[in-house]
Amino acid sequence: MDIILIAATTADGYIARHSNEVVDWSQDLRLFRKQTMGYPVIMGSQTKKTLAMDLDGRETTVIHRHSDPEKILDKLHSDKCFIIGGGRTFTRFASYLTHIYLTIHPLIFGKGVLLFPDLNKELDLVFLKMLSVDGVKGLYQFQYKINRSS
Ligand SMILES: NC(=O)c1ccc[n+]([C@@H]2O[C@H](COP(=O)([O-])OP(=O)(O)OC[C@H]3O[C@@H](n4cnc5c(N)ncnc54)[C@H](OP(=O)(O)O)[C@@H]3O)[C@@H](O)[C@H]2O)c1
Repeated sequence: MDIILIAATTADGYIARHSNEVVDWSQDLRLFRKQTMGYPVIMGSQTKKTLAMDLDGRETTVIHRHSDPEKILDKLHSDKCFIIGGGRTFTRFASYLTHIYLTIHPLIFGKGVLLFPDLNKELDLVFLKMLSVDGVKGLYQFQYKINRSS
């Protein structure tokens, strides 16, 4: 199964100004919806609290501190799933990820919630594709595969 991290980030690698932020600055929601529709999505409890509504058409799992990422992934019957945040959740699933899709926004926060807070190992990425985000000048989604051979 492909296990894909998908996120909107600032140019300095943040995904939110703080843990309670409702991310209203991302400009790739249509692309997010199109890519995740019909697939299982996994999110942390803090991200769930920031969402105004459920994600329709997607089996959603909310994880908590005692959740076991491997067991959660084992229960899914799909050729791909998406890890949709937040930072703590990205870090917890880091060793299972196969792909990373990042839309880098023209913002610098300087502080906040990092894409991977407290990650204790490096990930080696192989560039796959750069997609233009519909109708937004200068906004691209970078798609990478994770190289596990190194
Ligand atoms: N830009 C983007 O693409 C994007 C995407 C998604 C989210 N976000 C933003 O990211 C922010 C949330 O990210 P986040 O990293 O704070 O939260 P999160 O990953 O959504 O959820 C927090 C997770 O960490 C666990 N946790 C909390 N305290 C812990 C502790 N002391 N030890 C171990 N685990 C603990 C929680 O479990 P419990 O339930 O047990 O507390 C939960 O599973 C929000 O502002 C959201 O809007 C941005």
